[in-house]
Amino acid sequence: MPHTLIVEDDRDSAEMLAELIKGEGFSTATAHTLAEARQQLALREPDLVLLDLALPDGSGMDLFADRPEAFAGSEVVMITGHASLDTSIQALRLGATDYLVKPINFRHLKNILSRVTPTGEMQKRIANFEKNVSDVGRFGPLWGRSKIMQEIYHQVARVARTSVSVLVTGQSGTGKEVVAQAIHELSRRRDRAFLAVNCGAISPQLIESEMFGHEKGSFTGAARQHQGYFERAKGGTLLLDEITEMPLDLQVKLLRVLETRMFQRIGGTESIETDVRIVAATNRDPLEAVATGKLREDLLYRLNVFRIDVPPLNERREDVELLANNFLAELNVQENAAKHFTPAAIQALTAHGWPGNVRQLRNAVQRAFIMAEDNDIDAGHLSFDAMSMPQASANDGASVTVRVGTSIAEMERKLIFATLDYCGGRREQAAELLGVSPKTLYNRLREYERDRER
Ligand SMILES: Nc1ncnc2c1ncn2[C@@H]1O[C@H](COP(=O)(O)OP(=O)(O)OP(=O)(O)O)[C@@H](O)[C@H]1O
Ligand SMILES: [Mg+2]
Repeated sequence: MPHTLIVEDDRDSAEMLAELIKGEGFSTATAHTLAEARQQLALREPDLVLLDLALPDGSGMDLFADRPEAFAGSEVVMITGHASLDTSIQALRLGATDYLVKPINFRHLKNILSRVTPTGEMQKRIANFEKNVSDVGRFGPLWGRSKIMQEIYHQVARVARTSVSVLVTGQSGTGKEVVAQAIHELSRRRDRAFLAVNCGAISPQLIESEMFGHEKGSFTGAARQHQGYFERAKGGTLLLDEITEMPLDLQVKLLRVLETRMFQRIGGTESIETDVRIVAATNRDPLEAVATGKLREDLLYRLNVFRIDVPPLNERREDVELLANNFLAELNVQENAAKHFTPAAIQALTAHGWPGNVRQLRNAVQRAFIMAEDNDIDAGHLSFDAMSMPQASANDGASVTVRVGTSIAEMERKLIFATLDYCGGRREQAAELLGVSPKTLYNRLREYERDRER
């Protein structure tokens, strides 16, 4: 039976919480002061601690100070008055999992209780992921065993246990979406949905309804009720990709939803409770985005509770070979082939600068796979030289060769990928060279992605 320690000076509320929590199949202990809490913690390590911040003999935060690796095996949920949201954010940074605002919403509490798995299970899963890093060089969906990536894995493991919002930053193509997936796969939410919304790819007119849904007849064209991402990701994880592209008025709404955990469908009156972990991603510098008015400062503050900065590929060159071999292995399986890189090819791959990061590497491997006629992929099959100079003009020799008999659709595909590589994965620049809108380019890439999955 999981065990809960309730630290709350108000005896009535402590008792009420204890009754409720027992009803959910937990054993409970109660402490009314910091001193009592320390005693109880020494007696038995709880699976869950409900911690009021304002206690007669000090602040609940002091318990974190006691032990820097605070409550390694316990979930800590802060109980806080609305006025002290700042303190709770601090507590989240120190390792608290979540917070409850007084007066306590029982449904929210029940949600939290239902997520508390015996902590040993989470520990085991993390250990499993970590074992894979040393065995084969992969942490969930992320490949790489460089020191700098292991630091990222450490952060992912730490935040996955919690339900706090995460901000993932890093250049285009570094793997921000894969980091979000890793967080999801390691978390208690892994059996629920992982949904990704590209805020830059939805028209400003539609984005609110895509996020929060709408009621039938709430606007012209709203023929039936529609569930938004927040509803569909219930219990799971929602990736808000390119968060700086979200219209500012919607950023205000999003902030309110994050704070109150409630939202309404457009045209609706019912308040719906959310239970979603938000991961936001951007390839811009968030502070610069605030300075240029693309990102609201208060929203950044809220999302920035936990930040993961994914390093560019050229800061982890030792991972290039592993990544390239992994992408090649995927292709070999898909195409039932047995191709491999020659030492010279590996050397060339490792020496390259990869301005388009892992995405560019993946594309280069794909192209080399096609170019190599037998099983040896040699340095000559790699063609990234012209593409490593994205500032150069378009007619400096980067080219696509197509045979007669190629369909227009296939030619378009080749041209798009070559242009993207040429631009180091920068989609806006590629779209400009191709003479299409970023949205069109994005849609094409989505189609290719779907084809690949099929
Ligand atoms: N560590 C990794 N292991 C395996 N595959 C990776 C890794 N990092 C990135 N990839 C692959 O590289 C490609 C780009 O990754 P992803 O889409 O996550 O980049 P991103 O940082 O979100 O880029 P953008 O800012 O352009 O959206 C994907 O195909 C992804 O699967
Ligand atoms: Mg992305």
